[in-house]
Amino acid sequence: MTRTVVISGGGSGIGLAAARCFAAGGDRLVLVGRRSGVLERAAAELPGALPVPADLTTPDGARTVAETVAGTFGAVDVLVHGAGGNGGLEPAPGALDASDPLRVAEHRWTLNFRLNALTAVLLTEALRDRLASPGGRVLFVSSIAAYRGSGSGAYAASKAALHPYAFELARALGPRGVTVNVVAPGYVEDTGFFGAGLPAERREHLVAETLNGRPGTPGDVAETLHWLASHAAGHVTGQVVQVNGGAQLGR
Ligand SMILES: NC(=O)c1ccc[n+]([C@@H]2O[C@H](COP(=O)([O-])OP(=O)(O)OC[C@H]3O[C@@H](n4cnc5c(N)ncnc54)[C@H](OP(=O)(O)O)[C@@H]3O)[C@@H](O)[C@H]2O)c1
Repeated sequence: MTRTVVISGGGSGIGLAAARCFAAGGDRLVLVGRRSGVLERAAAELPGALPVPADLTTPDGARTVAETVAGTFGAVDVLVHGAGGNGGLEPAPGALDASDPLRVAEHRWTLNFRLNALTAVLLTEALRDRLASPGGRVLFVSSIAAYRGSGSGAYAASKAALHPYAFELARALGPRGVTVNVVAPGYVEDTGFFGAGLPAERREHLVAETLNGRPGTPGDVAETLHWLASHAAGHVTGQVVQVNGGAQLGR
């Protein structure tokens, strides 16, 4: 059966790797992100993929996706929330007074909650009534940071916020035959997350924290998402699956 799979952040990194997995399984894709050029490039390599440019930090952005999905496919079988980031690549507001630590904290925390929590909440709420029942799947991408912190705390907290939301959603949607799960990656290379990349020393440190001595790949996370969306994982719900080479245990 061909499923309709909506992937936020589907134009790059982990979201694009997930899109490739689902496309290889014969599913049809809706790719969501803000940069239309990025989405169109991704859609060009995935037969039948529909790019939908939208800023998911806004109700209008989420509504655009829901209306497009409703008008084109009707229902959503799988919803993958790949959109997010630590805010480091977002433009700083011109009016931000960088010498004021409270303004800086306000900016970082608001930005991270918008990028990581609100994007996922608004898109879920916009599509919630359209999730295939039974059989629908909702998948969040959290982070090892939700367990271990992330420096400022803001990114980590915004990812941790997804967990209780996912648990409550799993309870609410379980009777409809919809499962809801979270994947928590560790350090993953070859995505847009770190911009130009990490200093060699920081990279070495992150790799050394894994028990298998290697960085994660977008494919590691994508394959886990693909499995959680499969029929085989139908009795798995309300879980956080760690995909970080055991780095959450620490050495
Ligand atoms: N890479 C890692 O080491 C790592 C580790 C743990 C968790 N994660 C998480 O994995 C997810 C995917 O990140 P990635 O590593 O694959 O980096 P990425 O390549 O930068 O992917 C992030 C995607 O989110 C989209 N996005 C960001 N803000 C958005 C918004 N407001 N509305 C719609 N789309 C938005 C971006 O597209 P536009 O900019 O075009 O909107 C981009 O395609 C993120 O949630 C990230 O926090 C990453």
